[in-house]
Amino acid sequence: MHDRADAFKRVLKVVGSLLPGERLKTATYLNCIAAPRKFVRKSIGGFYRMDHIYGICREFGRLYEGKFSILEFGVADGYSFTKKLYATRYLEMEDQVIVHGFDTFEGLPENRDRADRALVEGEEWIEGQYHGRYEDLFSYCASRYSNFRLHKGLFQDTLTDGLLAEFEEHLPILIWIDCDYYSSTRQVFERLTPYIPSGCVIYFDDINHNFGSRFTGEMRAVWEINRGALGDRVELVPDYELSCDTNRVYRFVNLEARVQHRRRPRPAADPVRYRRDDSPFP
Ligand SMILES: C[S@@+](CC[C@H](N)C(=O)[O-])C[C@H]1O[C@@H](n2cnc3c(N)ncnc32)[C@H](O)[C@@H]1O
Repeated sequence: MHDRADAFKRVLKVVGSLLPGERLKTATYLNCIAAPRKFVRKSIGGFYRMDHIYGICREFGRLYEGKFSILEFGVADGYSFTKKLYATRYLEMEDQVIVHGFDTFEGLPENRDRADRALVEGEEWIEGQYHGRYEDLFSYCASRYSNFRLHKGLFQDTLTDGLLAEFEEHLPILIWIDCDYYSSTRQVFERLTPYIPSGCVIYFDDINHNFGSRFTGEMRAVWEINRGALGDRVELVPDYELSCDTNRVYRFVNLEARVQHRRRPRPAADPVRYRRDDSPFP
């Protein structure tokens, strides 16, 4: 590790010595070395939120039985909602997965909780921001897809008992939280928790608002859940594989869920691995 860092510094030293003046040296370093390095790092190891939609649908389709649902809280104009719908089409899972979208479609509600506010002036979310076009979105989706439902109103009103009961038949596999506020996130989990089976993926779009502080926003909800706010048998476990270089994706663990995902039957043979040789090769 140190060897590589030392070699990199030696190369930098040589390149630097070939360039005249601090200004040219600095501009060359920033534009020709630092920026491409960051770009490569981000493009190879970086998180892109559309990847895990496909990964999760494939995982559940392959390993588990039954019908599923994907729930998006905070739809606005449907930018990411319709991408989820298309994923179910591309993966030929339209008969198996219903995609639900929840939003006022009138933009962000009033922010009443201190934990919804920004810690930096100018980063405040504003009431009415992200106003959607409900009718347009509904007719666009209806013209292309049939496996969707849009729920217009505040989360606490649209997560009705009748709808929650449907999630016992169509088990949630992905819950996409993109509602910005701590209070809205908390409302979702307060209603939904008993219906979230262990293993369901929870994605938080804005977890890094306010530097990812546990005092505000979606991160506060995560922190509270993991301190037992919704019961001491509920946990959000980071999924490092799906998160890549972020902290945005978790698996819900719920020892008291009303429902459980069911694995497809596995071959009856004993999974023991028989010894071969002692080299690292499998
Ligand atoms: C950042 S936008 C969603 C962006 C969207 N996912 C996209 O792909 O463009 C946040 C949305 O959350 C909705 N929202 C926030 N709190 C809500 C609540 N308590 N009930 C209903 N909708 C809420 C707002 O109306 C707003 O449209």
